[in-house]
Amino acid sequence: GGFAVVVVAAGSGTRLGHGIPKALVPLDGRPLLEHALRGVAEAGIADRVLVTVPAGDVELSALAREHGALPVTGGASRAASVRAALAVLEGSGCAAVLVHDAARCLTPPSVFRSVARRVRSGARAVVPVLPVADTMRRVDEAGRSLGTVDRTVLRAVQTPQGFELALLRAVDRAAAEAGTDPETVTDDASLVETHAPGVAVRTVPGHEHAFKITRPLDLVLAEAVLRGRAP
Ligand code: CTP
Ligand code: MG
Repeated sequence: GGFAVVVVAAGSGTRLGHGIPKALVPLDGRPLLEHALRGVAEAGIADRVLVTVPAGDVELSALAREHGALPVTGGASRAASVRAALAVLEGSGCAAVLVHDAARCLTPPSVFRSVARRVRSGARAVVPVLPVADTMRRVDEAGRSLGTVDRTVLRAVQTPQGFELALLRAVDRAAAEAGTDPETVTDDASLVETHAPGVAVRTVPGHEHAFKITRPLDLVLAEAVLRGRAP
């Protein structure tokens, strides 16, 4: 079986604040989703591509189809959207899946390839990571400092995250059965740690350009990266 890539693009983009789904927000004149799908295509690892879209969406679905991807109506949370895509992949014959945020639309093809390579060589769950730049401090509920955390053992997590398809399906089902609020699941690989604790989650180096466009400043950075004005 081959590789499926699920590009999650069903979010509303509240923090970006454009009043339209984030994946439709233009970057250098083209929707974020288009940049993301171009990266997936360039990587050349996908046998099929699914795109989760907001309920009632027309534009993102059309864009997905133009790029040979299948639009899937997403859910109320990222994890619910991933679940909807997994349901469509039922019986697809795919052996592995890469789950990718449309909002990380400048992720270099090399990151997709290194995640896919690691999955192909037997890793069942793979996440791209980067060292954290800021000093990290733990606080209590009142905001009182409990001291700094050793930053050298911390990593910031990116996407695409790669999984054996049967594993991701199993841990997603386990989360549903445990009554986990999908709103609290911000990361697919965390489901593996919670519901398949015997399975190792492997890391590969991420990339600075794989940052998530979340707030307005991120869009400024993305424009600069595209125009070659940022390293
Ligand atoms: N996503 C999704 N379905 C949802 C929520 C999010 O497919 N119900 C996708 C987003 O489209 C995005 C990725 O998950 O590509 C990461 O989510 P985030 O950056 O939080 O995007 P939004 O939820 O759109 O933004 P916000 O939280 O600011 O509303
Ligand atoms: Mg969100």
